[in-house]
Amino acid sequence: MADQFDVVVIGSGPGGYVCAIKAAQLGLNVAIVEKSATLGGTCLNVGCIPSKALLHASEMFHEAQHGFEKLGIQTNKPKLNLSKMMEHKDATVKANVDGVAFLMKKNKITVFHGTGSIASANSVTVTDEKGKAETLEAKNIVVATGSVVAGIPGVEVDFDGQVIVSSDHAIALPKVPKEMVVVGGGVIGLELGSVWSRLGAKVTVVEYLGSVLGGMDGGVTKQFQRSLKKQGFTFKMNAKVTAVTKKAKKGLVTFEPVKGGDAVTLQADVVLVATGRAPYIDGLGLDAVGIETDRGKVKTDAHWRTNVANIYAIGDVTDGPMLAHKAEDEGVAVAETIAGKHGHVNYNIIPGVVYTQPEVASVGATEEQLKSDGVDYVLGQFPFTANGRARAMNVTEGFVKFLADKKTDQVLGVHIVGFGAGEMIHEAAVLMEFGGSSEDLGRTCHAHPTMSEAVKEAAMATYDKPIHM
Ligand code: NAI
Repeated sequence: MADQFDVVVIGSGPGGYVCAIKAAQLGLNVAIVEKSATLGGTCLNVGCIPSKALLHASEMFHEAQHGFEKLGIQTNKPKLNLSKMMEHKDATVKANVDGVAFLMKKNKITVFHGTGSIASANSVTVTDEKGKAETLEAKNIVVATGSVVAGIPGVEVDFDGQVIVSSDHAIALPKVPKEMVVVGGGVIGLELGSVWSRLGAKVTVVEYLGSVLGGMDGGVTKQFQRSLKKQGFTFKMNAKVTAVTKKAKKGLVTFEPVKGGDAVTLQADVVLVATGRAPYIDGLGLDAVGIETDRGKVKTDAHWRTNVANIYAIGDVTDGPMLAHKAEDEGVAVAETIAGKHGHVNYNIIPGVVYTQPEVASVGATEEQLKSDGVDYVLGQFPFTANGRARAMNVTEGFVKFLADKKTDQVLGVHIVGFGAGEMIHEAAVLMEFGGSSEDLGRTCHAHPTMSEAVKEAAMATYDKPIHM
């Protein structure tokens, strides 16, 4: 007889494994199916975690080269040991994926290695590498299969993993390229571009839009792009890439002005294509039970249910921002829903962080969104140049920006560009989750001296005046 489970989760990324743990904690009998050798999905294996290990290490290298002298530390010129840096990254990944395997055991979740495919509304087939298949009976199925590199719309890209690379390869280059062209000035392009720029590559970003990090607050992205230029980045904006090819071990990127005009071709040792990701539904058997999709994404209702009542979808494979923490929160909510509780995700308050230097962090509405929605708002801003701790640490680039409703002072959006922005943003997220006002935050005592005082002062600048400006 086939194994029987209350929940079978397909995919063990942050959405899937968190869903499995929560469901097990709620007393359900859970299985998780993963086609890769290790658990953790894109985020832990080739995404968030390895990139952060490299971002940290390359930032330290850059700091030792350019920051120590100003602090009165004299050293010999720091030397890069790239393979050692990659060892640090690999060890970080291993510790994290092993951690997930441990959590599966601890929560008595059965792990099946193989490709999961929906055979019927109540069964999942798992086919291992050797082609051996087994069937799991499932009262509920959760699709958490994530996303894959999308490539450039309308342009054929032949990723060879050495000269023309995706983020999967760009976290494991064997040597620092002299010149790197990044197609796409989004999160992946700027994070991984930063890694290789700090390690010595000359990085040129080719971006279709007029600003980097499309969709984030305009004031913040302008400041951020200025910072990257200072670090040596070159930008080709409003530029549509029409071809990515290879010639004699070099990558060639051809682009033309979006408005029309002559095409230009750049040459580089490595071309990183970072133009988005696409939901991954290959071989999932959605057709077997007639699960509906919309532009490649699994369609769900407000409770993550597909059109088949006991089959759910969460994370990158379904609607919403492709962010690990969004998937995690959906995983918890779906487990709670299946267990008969009330699962909830507040999509208005999902922070977004770009882990560069300076970091960019954002939660809630941007100024552009408020304008286009015709919302009357007040803006309060405070620069890190006026923050004592930032001066002491030589990290004065950037600012905190508050947007609050003009009538009620309820905070609608907070945007930060600066050192540690990705940590500071969460006090704004908590404030907003409780429907707080800028005055609520401005009257909350903040320890001195901290970077977070700039958050408090920006809040004060929203309903009144900051003290230190
Ligand atoms: P993205 O959607 O963030 O950026 C892609 C960029 O490529 C856009 O700015 C777009 O205008 C540009 N583009 C598209 N076609 C082009 C063309 N023909 N020529 C020139 N430019 C073109 O996608 P990205 O950076 O690949 O990231 C994929 C997903 O992964 C995103 O949803 C992102 O949020 C997520 N992610 C999040 C991270 C974080 O939260 N720190 C880190 C890495 C990825």
